[in-house]
Amino acid sequence: MLKSRRIVPSLLRLSTLLPSCNRSLCVKLSVVQALSAKASDKDVKLQGWIRSVRSQKEVLFLDVNDGSSLDNLQVVADPNLGPKNLTYGCAVEVRGKLMKSTYAKQNIELHAEDIKVVGPCDPVDNNFVHIHTPIITSNDCEGAGELFKVEPANKERCEQKETNHFFNIPAFLTVSGQLHLEVMTGAFTKVFTFGPTFRAENSQSRRHLAEFYMVEAEIAFTDGLEDIMQVMEDLFKAATSCLLMKCPKDIELFHKYIAPGQKDRLDLMLKKPFVVLSYNEAINILKKDAHKFEFKPEWGHDLQTEHEKYLVQHCGNVPVFVVNYPYDLKPFYARDNDDGPQRTAAAVDLLVPGIGELFGGSLREERLHLLQSRLEMLGLKETYQWYLDLRRFGSVPHGGFGMGFERYLQCILGVENIKDVIPFPRFTHSCNL
Ligand code: 4AD
Ligand code: MG
Repeated sequence: MLKSRRIVPSLLRLSTLLPSCNRSLCVKLSVVQALSAKASDKDVKLQGWIRSVRSQKEVLFLDVNDGSSLDNLQVVADPNLGPKNLTYGCAVEVRGKLMKSTYAKQNIELHAEDIKVVGPCDPVDNNFVHIHTPIITSNDCEGAGELFKVEPANKERCEQKETNHFFNIPAFLTVSGQLHLEVMTGAFTKVFTFGPTFRAENSQSRRHLAEFYMVEAEIAFTDGLEDIMQVMEDLFKAATSCLLMKCPKDIELFHKYIAPGQKDRLDLMLKKPFVVLSYNEAINILKKDAHKFEFKPEWGHDLQTEHEKYLVQHCGNVPVFVVNYPYDLKPFYARDNDDGPQRTAAAVDLLVPGIGELFGGSLREERLHLLQSRLEMLGLKETYQWYLDLRRFGSVPHGGFGMGFERYLQCILGVENIKDVIPFPRFTHSCNL
């Protein structure tokens, strides 16, 4: 009792110096207030939501934001202080002292003495329903013709006399589960799939496989591309924070022996908000340094890996969303932006350091007449009657994305060649075992 009488007056005095105070024993600060405060040995309390969790052997870093500032406040703690359910997105109350930061880009950080999870956030379930999309399909979702055909090996025995096809129509290994997810959003609103994907791309590059895994999500009732980009950024940050928490030793091993410096690069990606550039802006940036590239940047041409890597570097090695690509570069399902006749589409790629494209996504054309005329132009109207039916009956604005899982592993582990993050890589001229 006596003790608290002595503490309370001193806290009240402190409250006149610091911007806000509650009646408990700590001065409560918002993130913006904490960022502009001076280091002090007084106890302060901060409440907000976790934007990243980085757990190292001897120290735990959290980035906390409460909406009062675009910048996060870094919280530094002993790893044993962090409760088990400390995940990306959860609401926390942190008590501790503001100290001068040793990190050049910020003045102040909060050294935690107590961390409470006020509102837990289960990082694996944001109400997305898991759908098992088929591996064998009759669609070419990307319209690029990079398909593996599926036929019985013993055609003599299986051939159907009337049609010449096992399934009556030609069938292929899937290049994307997107079109099936679009069907399922009609029942569940938010859906995802995670499965094997196949591309007959004649590429020996460090980021292409013939068989890879893709995480795909599809969301109905979208307000714009930003809705999709928010889920992309959250997925990247939540999955990475979760991995750093749950298997720090495995990741440290790669960072130590394969990619020194990768830990800092990854921390930066988790800490900073991702950058957004329009395709037009991207082309202008590239043109200023056109002499540096083998492929000259030109409006209307796809971005090459060298361009993508340059853009990420140009933006400070933070992941970059490039939005609104030329309409003709994107598949038939991408939504027309209405900025002139078929000029740009509401499509987005997320580019990451060292790799380039990690996610590809778009809003989908939900307007029947526009989708119909595009499919007609491509000679696909008959094949896609079922897809047009989705627009005839209860069509809603929707969109989604796909993230290549092996490219994601490359990105967080710092592995240069995609063939080194998968035990049995399949690529042109190689299908061992
Ligand atoms: O950009 P892509 O082709 O997009 C789609 O397939 C969309 N239908 C996804 C959707 O909106 N649901 O592929 C998505 C991601 C790429 O950004 C890349 O990370 C990965 O899949 N990817 C590959 N990864 C390894 N090897 C390949 N050959 C890949 N092709 C694409
Ligand atoms: Mg793509």
